Amino acid sequence: MLGRTGAGPADDGVAEAAALGLDRDAVVLLVGGARGITARFAATLAAAGHCRLELLGRTAAPEGPEDPATAAARDRSALRAALARQGVPLPKVDAAASRLLAGREVAATLDELSALGSPARYRTVNAADPAALRQAVKEVHAEYGRLDGVVYAAGVIEDKVLAEKDPESFRRVFATKAHGAAALLDALAELPARPRFTVLFGSIAAALGNRGQADYAAANDALEELGARWTLRTGGRALTVHWGPWAPSGAHGGMVSEELARDYRRRGVRLIDPDAGTLALLRELAWGEESVPSVVYTASGW
Ligand SMILES: NC(=O)c1ccc[n+]([C@@H]2O[C@H](COP(=O)([O-])OP(=O)(O)OC[C@H]3O[C@@H](n4cnc5c(N)ncnc54)[C@H](OP(=O)(O)O)[C@@H]3O)[C@@H](O)[C@H]2O)c1
Repeated sequence: MLGRTGAGPADDGVAEAAALGLDRDAVVLLVGGARGITARFAATLAAAGHCRLELLGRTAAPEGPEDPATAAARDRSALRAALARQGVPLPKVDAAASRLLAGREVAATLDELSALGSPARYRTVNAADPAALRQAVKEVHAEYGRLDGVVYAAGVIEDKVLAEKDPESFRRVFATKAHGAAALLDALAELPARPRFTVLFGSIAAALGNRGQADYAAANDALEELGARWTLRTGGRALTVHWGPWAPSGAHGGMVSEELARDYRRRGVRLIDPDAGTLALLRELAWGEESVPSVVYTASGW
């Protein structure tokens, strides 16, 4: 049940941030943190602790204002039409629209975090590149002389029943989570001190499975094992959060599209309210038993 573990009131997270030492000097790194549900968690950290936030993702951050020809197009279909009018070849329109939407989401996250009082910086780093990830961790630590918290949330889905799955697709889905998290944990082990917390964003699919998600379920299950082994190896705190589906919200829709959300509603699966989800995690980190390697958070049955 959502938020049943971890004590304390479901307030604004300020007491939790203070208990975790997340003040203006603290530094939290979020891999895959500029978009989706992790951007929501970053906003909760910003509002509660005003800590410095370092965000990584593959999307290229927009340089300067968007071309007025596309800027007025606010949703995907308007954007596709605007791009087609600009002469982008039809087979490339969808990818171009995705790039623009992702860039806008990154920019909106950075604006939101700084409005909430957190200095935030974004770097384009592919978590599937272990050397780049290690370098980013080293640079962040070297710049501030500390790393208080880390969130690993990079993930992709390419759902298909196993019999029809292309091995390369399986590898992408699995590696983005499992290999990326392993590289991150190795990089953290090289720092002079472990962060106060390291959170791995997993999925309830790891525990209960989901049609078309054999790769994704395996990857999320692997996260928990990687975190537990890292704790044994380093003594650091690693918590895997196996999330149930979140309700899509505003700019940060995440992996649950409106269509999927409707499907869940039809099946009677309630979706995690984003504010409740982020505060539940903050409470777990602040008051939860540190030796617990994983928690499952869901708003209802699966
Ligand atoms: N939304 C849910 O209901 C739900 C439920 C269970 C678990 N989760 C987990 O929560 C995490 C976030 O999901 P979401 O729903 O917010 O999905 P999302 O909007 O697709 O976010 C995924 C994030 O991962 C980043 N990412 C993907 N591949 C990457 C790579 N190779 N290197 C660096 N960053 C990468 C993406 O940024 P770029 O595209 O810019 O790289 C994005 O920030 C995922 O790990 C997911 O498995 C979500």
